[in-house]
Amino acid sequence: MSERVAFLGLGVMGSAMAGHLAAAGHQVTVFNRTASVAEKWLAANRGSRAATPADAAAGARFVFACVGNDDDVREIAVGEVGAIPAMAPGAVFVDHTTASARLARELAADAAARDISFLDAPVSGGQAGAENGALTVMVGGDEDAFQKALPLIDCYARCVERLGPSGSGQLAKMVNQICIAGVVEGLAEGLHFARAAGLDPAAVVDVISKGAAQSWQMDNRTETMLAGVFDFGFAVDWMRKDLAIALDEARRSGARLPLAALVDQLYAEVQAMGGGRWDSSSLLARLEALKSAR
Ligand SMILES: NC(=O)c1ccc[n+]([C@@H]2O[C@H](COP(=O)([O-])OP(=O)(O)OC[C@H]3O[C@@H](n4cnc5c(N)ncnc54)[C@H](OP(=O)(O)O)[C@@H]3O)[C@@H](O)[C@H]2O)c1
Repeated sequence: MSERVAFLGLGVMGSAMAGHLAAAGHQVTVFNRTASVAEKWLAANRGSRAATPADAAAGARFVFACVGNDDDVREIAVGEVGAIPAMAPGAVFVDHTTASARLARELAADAAARDISFLDAPVSGGQAGAENGALTVMVGGDEDAFQKALPLIDCYARCVERLGPSGSGQLAKMVNQICIAGVVEGLAEGLHFARAAGLDPAAVVDVISKGAAQSWQMDNRTETMLAGVFDFGFAVDWMRKDLAIALDEARRSGARLPLAALVDQLYAEVQAMGGGRWDSSSLLARLEALKSAR
């Protein structure tokens, strides 16, 4: 069934997700803060454009968002021209931004007071996952709203799971980022060590990727890391935002995250090298810079 939906935020991730909704036959109204980006999206996809989140959300049964951080979500959801006050009772807001669990609970309560459902639904799978419609989506919120939104989220996902009440999706995404942080630094150190030892790191990875050291990062990032290519992918600035959210949550729950805290500091050094927009695999660039400065 074709649904009337709004999509707020047409960045690397949002533009591809909105495109899949349009390709599946849904009536998509997009909003992007920088209007030229929405124009570009409309040149490649079927849909319409609104000047504010509120205008995009009016009359939509589902409103999707994928913006930057907590403040950005707050602005487009409940700011001066935010979507939630413009949504009809019974509508569902699906937030794909990686943000805090506290924000998800706060906005879910705001939305519930207007008889609107709010799902926190951060994603994993990167730009390629969004473009190929193969994202993993971790959802928190009400089961009924989840069941309503599921057929739409399926347009760009290969795995969609509800993990519990509001905030659970964001908490699961924190687990995802905590796991990734240690793995990327481990891979960077392995490649760096192989090179320093005089081995061919690509040949070594060919072998060890068949064994217990294998990982998504090893399969998808080794080649670009060894080529020193980092101007793509998941930005270091975003990774630091995500680790800050996880470390803040851990301070509250009492969980210990020594490795995530360390890797966060290593990413701060990559930022100081000018690598804020580099892919998070650029931890290798930091190691190589330190070695050549020795
Ligand atoms: N890229 C990845 O591989 C990846 C993977 C998983 C999760 N994520 C998460 O997904 C979210 C989006 O990532 P992305 O890579 O798509 O980011 P991006 O390319 O930088 O796009 C961000 C989008 O948010 C909009 N935006 C930011 N602040 C806003 C505000 N205050 N009001 C209105 N619009 C605002 C931007 O609008 P403008 O065009 O006007 O700047 C842009 O459309 C982030 O939370 C990120 O952590 C990203």
